[in-house]
Amino acid sequence: NERTFVAVKPDGVQRRLVGDIVRRFEKKGFKLVGMKLVQASEDLLKDHYRDLQTKPFFDGLVRYMGSGPVVAMVWQGLDVVKTSRRMLGATDPADSLPGTVRGDYCVEVGRNVIHGSDSVESAQREISLWFRNEEIQCWEDPASPWIYA
Ligand code: GTP
Ligand code: MG
Repeated sequence: NERTFVAVKPDGVQRRLVGDIVRRFEKKGFKLVGMKLVQASEDLLKDHYRDLQTKPFFDGLVRYMGSGPVVAMVWQGLDVVKTSRRMLGATDPADSLPGTVRGDYCVEVGRNVIHGSDSVESAQREISLWFRNEEIQCWEDPASPWIYA
């Protein structure tokens, strides 16, 4: 079963958006298998965003992501990586449609409230970066027959 890494960024936590974001994923039908509030270290963040190292906004991005706790989550379900990205909206909130997290809750790319893995491979890398194996819970979802045929 596919998994993805989703994080409510520090601005999302400060702006009390955690409950709403969790609620969106729950209502969609995805299964929460990992969740914690983390003050991320600079090393973790530099590793997490290592593909963006050469970007002019990299230092600012690492500072932003370390500016307060983030809610790190692992969600599981059919096509969860791709579908989560669609639920988050475009990277720049100016391009995000209403109904997406970024489309509904933010205005600037440098404060875009939420992160989601961009591929199955990045999801695996990010989950192992942010979570220990014992922090992932496998549980039987009684609603599963009502979500999956
Ligand atoms: P994440 O889910 O956070 O990884 O966003 P993304 O996959 O939609 O975009 P990407 O991985 O390319 O960029 C990661 C993050 O860097 C974005 O979510 C933004 O917070 C930030 N970012 C990306 N582009 C810009 C930019 O042009 N300016 C600034 N200030 N920040 C940017
Ligand atoms: Mg990304």
